[in-house]
Amino acid sequence: MRMKPSRNLLLGLCSMLALGFLYYSSGRISLRGWSHKSLYDKQGFLVKLESNLPLELLYKYDNLSEGACKPGFAAAKMTAIYPKFNKLAPIFLDPNYKRFSKIGDYSPPFGVKSHERIIDILLAATKKYGLGEELDSLSCKTCIIVGNGGILVNKSLGQRIDEFDVVIRLNEAPVKGFEKDVGSKTTMRITYPEGAIQRMERYEAQSLFVLSAFKAQDFNWLRHMVFNQRLHSTDGFWKSVAKQVPREPSDMRILNPYFIQEASFKLIGLPHNNGQMGRGNIPTLGAVAITMALHNCDEVSVVGFGYNMSTPYAPLHYYEKIRMSAIKESWTHNISKEKEFLMKLVRAGVIQDMTNGICSAGC
Ligand SMILES: *[C@@H]1O[C@H](CO)[C@@H](O)[C@H](O)[C@H]1NC(C)=O
Ligand SMILES: *[C@@H]1O[C@H](CO)[C@@H](O)[C@H](O)[C@H]1NC(C)=O
Ligand SMILES: *[C@@H]1O[C@H](CO)[C@@H](O)[C@H](O)[C@H]1NC(C)=O
Ligand SMILES: *[C@@H]1O[C@H](CO)[C@@H](O)[C@H](O)[C@H]1NC(C)=O
Repeated sequence: MRMKPSRNLLLGLCSMLALGFLYYSSGRISLRGWSHKSLYDKQGFLVKLESNLPLELLYKYDNLSEGACKPGFAAAKMTAIYPKFNKLAPIFLDPNYKRFSKIGDYSPPFGVKSHERIIDILLAATKKYGLGEELDSLSCKTCIIVGNGGILVNKSLGQRIDEFDVVIRLNEAPVKGFEKDVGSKTTMRITYPEGAIQRMERYEAQSLFVLSAFKAQDFNWLRHMVFNQRLHSTDGFWKSVAKQVPREPSDMRILNPYFIQEASFKLIGLPHNNGQMGRGNIPTLGAVAITMALHNCDEVSVVGFGYNMSTPYAPLHYYEKIRMSAIKESWTHNISKEKEFLMKLVRAGVIQDMTNGICSAGC
């Protein structure tokens, strides 16, 4: 049977319409993809970063008196430049840590996989999982992370540092003798075994001792410290480690490894390497501490981060004589990629850099 000409025409029209629609929608999709790319970078940060407050935040914070703590400020600004940000991630592991699904799938340093048993033992012994009653009950917390950079020398920022609710120090960075520049208050000291203070008299009188575990052996080390056991073997450490930590178990904590995972894979964009520690995919402790603070502090400031490249003979650390020019390429860290991330935070005003080292070469 012959088809009627009008039917042929109709069929032809239909297929043309369908083709046209496909063409149109594929164009739209790629157009969308394109405009999406132009607004956000590979990590998901807004490309055009401005330190001005978005209108809705301006309304919320503008009436607060100068210097008053702004509730929710860091997370709100972070979300404004990085929409994927989800504030919920507690600072320390607590007995219900298995509810954080994201850390159960990864081995250290990105998670807790196959170390649950020792962690349960540690948490049962420390019995405390917060910052302490006073700080936990604050409705607005200001935090400062004191980096170890030589850029802190002779800036006399000690007094201003001590005014923060939470002062976070890293590894063995000393306080005694450096109070004028680095302050005297320490809320917590985050460290890994190789970075922990080795001389007992150097520990400050009060502060939380916080382990940031980078490898399996680190949990075992903390067990020796918590139960005050002699450490016989130093196998598995890359340099000598503290044999004792003069702290009660109730003053010891385990940093939530989610911050290492998030800093590395999401915020900085280091190689995933199947979720294993590998070349150039470990964030520095400073970047990890900043990531933690974005989730848990209302306002976040930093000092002692970054290097002033125009002063190669300045000290690398504020407490040592090693010069900046001695800095070596690191196998584990990717300093330049990490700096890009920190620069975004400073440029957008998510964090305040009181020593201007992060943007020393412009932002
Ligand atoms: C801020 O102050 C203005 C003028 O005094 C007022 O109209 C506005 O409601 C205030 N905003 C908030 C969030 O309190
Ligand atoms: C810091 O000040 C002291 C005393 O004025 C000076 O001797 C030292 O060289 C200064 N250090 C740096 C790194 O500027
Ligand atoms: C750091 O990242 C950049 C860009 O992804 C890469 O080219 C470089 O090799 C990395 N460096 C290290 C030490 O992994
Ligand atoms: C870096 O060093 C130069 C030369 O000493 C100095 O002029 C500049 O202010 C320093 N920058 C910062 C951020 O400290």
